[in-house]
Amino acid sequence: MSEPRDFAASFAFGAATSAYQVEGGIENDWTSWERAGRTKTRCGRAVDHWNRFEEDFDLLEAAGLTAYRLSVEWARIEPEPGRIDEAALERYRAILGSLARRGIRAMVTLHHFTHPAWFHVKTPWTTPASVGAFARFARRVGEALRGLVGWWCTLNEPMVFLLGGYADAQMPPGVRDLDAFARAAANLLRAHAAARAALREVDPGAPIGFAHNGLALAPLRRWSLLDRVISHYADDLYNDAVPRALVDGELELEMPFLLRRRERIEGGRGSLDFIGMNYYSRIHVGAKLGAPWVQARYRDASGRGVSDLGWEWYPEGFAGLLARMGRWGLPLYVTENGLADASGERRNRYLHEHLRVLADALKAGADVRGYFHWSLLDNFEWLEGLGPRFGLFRVDFETLERTPTPTVAWIEQVARTGRLPEASRR
Ligand code: FCB
Repeated sequence: MSEPRDFAASFAFGAATSAYQVEGGIENDWTSWERAGRTKTRCGRAVDHWNRFEEDFDLLEAAGLTAYRLSVEWARIEPEPGRIDEAALERYRAILGSLARRGIRAMVTLHHFTHPAWFHVKTPWTTPASVGAFARFARRVGEALRGLVGWWCTLNEPMVFLLGGYADAQMPPGVRDLDAFARAAANLLRAHAAARAALREVDPGAPIGFAHNGLALAPLRRWSLLDRVISHYADDLYNDAVPRALVDGELELEMPFLLRRRERIEGGRGSLDFIGMNYYSRIHVGAKLGAPWVQARYRDASGRGVSDLGWEWYPEGFAGLLARMGRWGLPLYVTENGLADASGERRNRYLHEHLRVLADALKAGADVRGYFHWSLLDNFEWLEGLGPRFGLFRVDFETLERTPTPTVAWIEQVARTGRLPEASRR
């Protein structure tokens, strides 16, 4: 008798990208951010996926993957408020058509950090007008792509975007104001609900969820009561506030002395068919003298090492967060997981350890239905630019040539057999 599988035949193995990070030639709010010198390098043509998608889907197939998570770029589709670029939608139809012909199921994300530049001027997230603007965009995309989408993912990592965009000014629109943060949070989640309602109407068949960044959190100084309290509240705010709002319809944001908000999210209750979880690492948080009073740091506390971005390698955190997300009672997908590793030598091991955690969770009864590796290709990493390498395929940013890393053969075998190899160091 053959050994039991770690992953059922129906389990989806895929890879993930986002439009801005791979397509190239996009003009949006992030491009202005780059021009203002806020990123290490500029994105430019990225890896030219917009023109090379067929070649890239050959690579996806070579890696044995049967699912692909991508995002559509709002700035391409609606370059001016209310004006839809049909050619852009046509190209996305071609991209999804190519996946469908290959039998690859697509997860389409509508908001992956970026916006058309006009958005922050005309209908910013701090205003109620943002909700309608996003829902109209979702409806147009839904009408254009229906039938070609396996899963809709409204938002990518809303809490990462909200903290970066409105609390510590690391991302556009570059605001540092907790009141704006709370207003933007409520509107962004209302926009999720409104987009879901629109997608439901135009494409009733496809499940609708969002991708959440799950981050293991620990106090910076274990002996400090203050750090422990901060870590407790930060954990709730970061890991639970958003899914809770989309399950119960109430957004509660709290950080002692800094923020306390309760907002009703109209349409939010029961607005998820699944939760996508992106998991990479653990972070340590604690008090800081001087605004913003809270600090967060990656450190190699478990001694396994860190990624090229300095992120701690911590699979135990993945186990904890899978269990925690499971408590919302919805199907789960791992919508991102991976390692910045320019050597290409450490990634198999990272994957092995994280997929082992996932296999154990499945065995214990977790309802996880798929795993999307970040990323198919090396790409533009937001603030760090073209430095960090997350790709299953390495990209030479000069020639744009793609070459397989050792992980391609490794993941192909796992996807094909549904089993983790006994030992995999490389
Ligand atoms: C996630 C983002 C994704 C990518 C990875 C490394 O937070 O969703 O776009 O940058 O991190």
